[in-house]
Amino acid sequence: MSIGAKLMVARASALFEEYCSESSVHGVRFFVGKQRSVCVKLTWLTVFGLSLIGCGIMIQQAYNKWDRTPVIVTLSEVPTPVWDMTFPAVTICPEIKVSNTVFNFTDQFETLHREWYWAQQNSNNTITVDDDSIGKMKAIIHHCSGIYMNDKNFIFNFNHILEPNLVDFLKKVSLDRRNVFTMCGSTSDTRCTNYMQVALTNEGICYSFNMIAQEEMFHADVLHKEYKYLERWDEDGKGMPASDGTNDELLKVAGSGLDAVIGFNIIHYPLKIDTSCVRGRGYKVLIHEPTVYPDLSKRNIRLSVSQTLTVALKPNIMMTSPELTKYSAQKRQCYFDHEHPLRFFRLYNQDNCELECLTNYTLQRCGCVHFSMPHTNETRVCLLEEAHCPTEARGHLFIRKQRRNDTNDYLQRCDCLPACSSVRFDLQITQDSHSEEREVRTTIETQEDLLAKLQL
Ligand SMILES: *[C@@H]1O[C@H](CO)[C@@H](O)[C@H](O)[C@H]1NC(C)=O
Ligand SMILES: *[C@@H]1O[C@H](CO)[C@@H](O)[C@H](O)[C@H]1NC(C)=O
Ligand SMILES: *[C@@H]1O[C@H](CO)[C@@H](O)[C@H](O)[C@H]1NC(C)=O
Ligand SMILES: *[C@@H]1O[C@H](CO)[C@@H](O)[C@H](O)[C@H]1NC(C)=O
Ligand SMILES: *[C@@H]1O[C@H](CO)[C@@H](O)[C@H](O)[C@H]1NC(C)=O
Repeated sequence: MSIGAKLMVARASALFEEYCSESSVHGVRFFVGKQRSVCVKLTWLTVFGLSLIGCGIMIQQAYNKWDRTPVIVTLSEVPTPVWDMTFPAVTICPEIKVSNTVFNFTDQFETLHREWYWAQQNSNNTITVDDDSIGKMKAIIHHCSGIYMNDKNFIFNFNHILEPNLVDFLKKVSLDRRNVFTMCGSTSDTRCTNYMQVALTNEGICYSFNMIAQEEMFHADVLHKEYKYLERWDEDGKGMPASDGTNDELLKVAGSGLDAVIGFNIIHYPLKIDTSCVRGRGYKVLIHEPTVYPDLSKRNIRLSVSQTLTVALKPNIMMTSPELTKYSAQKRQCYFDHEHPLRFFRLYNQDNCELECLTNYTLQRCGCVHFSMPHTNETRVCLLEEAHCPTEARGHLFIRKQRRNDTNDYLQRCDCLPACSSVRFDLQITQDSHSEEREVRTTIETQEDLLAKLQL
């Protein structure tokens, strides 16, 4: 070793000794000192080294945790008044899709069945039911129970006969909504039909309360022009001009508790039901955000006839601080409005994204889509003989099979994370039946009797 190097080492060790004896870091002092034994020095060095390693591991863990989940959910300390919120949308789907006063489906279907059967037996083809009626029946069967979709159904021998414009026809044969919703109102606003729209869902024709309009929901330039997905309650041709645009506003929450209740009175007409085309009785109800396009197959509440359903809502508002925009969406596990543009929907939220994903998947798998799915003018709506395909596509997309091929996971590719600001509603449901009420008879029979007694 040269003199220079020796000098360097001596200088460095002097510096180290000086640093150690003067440092305020605990323990370092014991590394040096002529009076201390090597054993003590080594012990202290080991302890110091171990604590450094311990710190390092903890820092690593903290970093990993932050890296995996940089977002923490906390309860907001600032309460928000409830009247700043928009009232949620309520979508009600009657199970009865076809009124027998418009088209006697049972009668026509049975006649056709009989005649077809005879024609098969006697090898002559005298079928008196006209093509128009057969087309209508095929349109109606889209809504009937799944049994009709059995591929042995004789109606599939009439595949060459065209169906009428499905949506228009189904709107025409549905029960008159003004008779179905006899009352709808709230303490704050009694003109509740102003907020009602006719919506197309996978359950057919439904009625949505307090949802945004078609123009706000969809990109009009991509969508076909054949029919509308959301139509104002009064926009069906006759009378009632679309008024000054005040109706475009959504209803705000008027307050809390039963005082701010919104009520619907729905009437069921047992005599108008076509008994061969029923899937059940009553209604399906979905409560959702006004910007979400309803999908009743995902979740719904069943309301049967002669029942009162009371639903208390507790909003769960989730907001994401704008500072998190600098993290990737995968890290924060949510999308801000502009980050994941959808093709058909203007507004991003998880449900709309999944619906669009389902539409893409259905189109890819079947070559056609269900009429309630948004589509371009180049895409056709599935005909009756293909109608089983969208149902299967749905099951295939959303139901995770045990042995699933991950490389082929379409839903994952759609990347439908939740929206960064969203409202979820926790529901408290009470249900009671009217029939019990009727059993408890009061001593005074009718209201008129009571009135007469009071006036005496
Ligand atoms: C439908 O046709 C059947 C058989 O002809 C008949 O009994 C029934 O009353 C008809 N229904 C209506 C609402 O016209
Ligand atoms: C053809 O069918 C009708 C019933 O629709 C039947 O009355 C008639 O006898 C049949 N004709 C022949 C030749 O089988
Ligand atoms: C779809 O719409 C575009 C633009 O309006 C039009 O050019 C095109 O021919 C339409 N396609 C079909 C299949 O109708
Ligand atoms: C998953 O699907 C892809 C494409 O269909 C295929 O190439 C691959 O072998 C499949 N993997 C498994 C484990 O089945
Ligand atoms: C559906 O397909 C269209 C066109 O291929 C695409 O632009 C859109 O992003 C797709 N939607 C989703 C949710 O993946």
